Amino acid sequence: MPACDFTPPVYEGPSRDEIAALRTRFVHPSVFTLYSDPIMIVDGHMQWLFDERGQRYLDMLAGIVTVSCGHCHPKITERIARQAERLVHATTIYLHPNLPLLSEKLASKMPDGLEVTYFVNSGSEANELAINMARAFTGNTDVIALRNGYHGMSSSSAAMTSHHTWKRDIPLGARIHHAMCPDPYRNPFDGTPTEIARKSAEEVQDLLRFSTPGEVAAFISEPIQGVGGVTEGAQGYLSAVYDIIRKHGGLCIADEVQTGFGRLGTHYWGFERAEVVPDIVVMAKGIGNGTPMAAVTTRREIADKFTDRLHFNTYGGNPLSMAVGLAVMDVIEEDGLQENARVVGERLKHGLEGLQQKHEAVGDVRGAGLMLGVELVEDRETKTPASKMTATVLEDARERGVLLGKGGLYGNVLRIKPPLCITAEDADFAVSVLDESLTAAAG
Ligand SMILES: Cc1ncc(COP(=O)(O)O)c(C=O)c1O
Repeated sequence: MPACDFTPPVYEGPSRDEIAALRTRFVHPSVFTLYSDPIMIVDGHMQWLFDERGQRYLDMLAGIVTVSCGHCHPKITERIARQAERLVHATTIYLHPNLPLLSEKLASKMPDGLEVTYFVNSGSEANELAINMARAFTGNTDVIALRNGYHGMSSSSAAMTSHHTWKRDIPLGARIHHAMCPDPYRNPFDGTPTEIARKSAEEVQDLLRFSTPGEVAAFISEPIQGVGGVTEGAQGYLSAVYDIIRKHGGLCIADEVQTGFGRLGTHYWGFERAEVVPDIVVMAKGIGNGTPMAAVTTRREIADKFTDRLHFNTYGGNPLSMAVGLAVMDVIEEDGLQENARVVGERLKHGLEGLQQKHEAVGDVRGAGLMLGVELVEDRETKTPASKMTATVLEDARERGVLLGKGGLYGNVLRIKPPLCITAEDADFAVSVLDESLTAAAG
């Protein structure tokens, strides 16, 4: 395991078993844990997590793609402490410098025209607001999302989420339709990625024709699907669909909750990599480095239309979360994290592709920067998902000191999305552990 110069303080709280029992007794059972024998994490430092015994783990999941700059990054912690000493909350009914300063900073990273921001507390809430704004602006109701997408758990965002595993039989947000996912690895259409992009875009045209009044409020997608298993979508798809949607009166929404803030390495935003310009950008996770905040940026005329009724968010835009956002964006620049995501991400992906050569179970390696996925299959021809094996690999890697995630409809995609500060040595270590875990799981 690569060296680390940080030693966590001794943990003096209740034992892991006591905490597990308390959790079983008093915490809502929908709050699930990842491992069969749950791990307890009590300290974090940059790319490292520590359990109550001081055991160190390389965090290759970053609190589910959330800790962008590193756990307890000293500069961010310092800015949080400085702000907390002066003012935590007063609401946006008063002026405070941090809210417009962070809005301005976000605008500086966006294409021209995308310059006004509304802050909320979670990705679900941000998506909800984005949809409501699109409906208010266009006067249309129907929304098109993608199959295999994940947009959150509130009413409209859960309706836009497209996995039966996250759906329940209760009325959710209405008038949401799901278009074919343009994933080249698992797609009902044959052909090259370019053909898949074209055929999938044509299917959106059909959806408009058959399932909507013809005019829509919005199209929403993740530039790379996260929970869905790092499915990239065929290049060219989004620009074709954005054209179609705009011809049908709709706005295009980029859900950058996982892909934003430099994670993809080559670009600050996922939509830039897909060569499209959305009308609304939804952000969360990485913007707060683990603190609960999210944002929606859009054009002035779209935002203006939303002022015909009152809209309010108690915590959104509070001085503390705005201080975090400002610190995060500074650190991404000062620490060169986007470039690190590009360079270390390429190395990591190369290593994973090496594992694909070696291990029959690795059906696909995909993603960009430090948002990578490894899809495990029982058979490369049939692509039968190797869900059990994925769970075994996950558990085994943990024993060897590496924490990974899993996703995809069948839970057969290893999700590798570490804090953007990991080093080349960490990437090599993760690949060697995965190599051993794949060997052990196959044996
Ligand atoms: C792409 C995407 N959008 C929205 C959400 C919902 O965010 P939250 O859990 O903060 O509500 C998530 C969460 O994983 C996500 O990955």
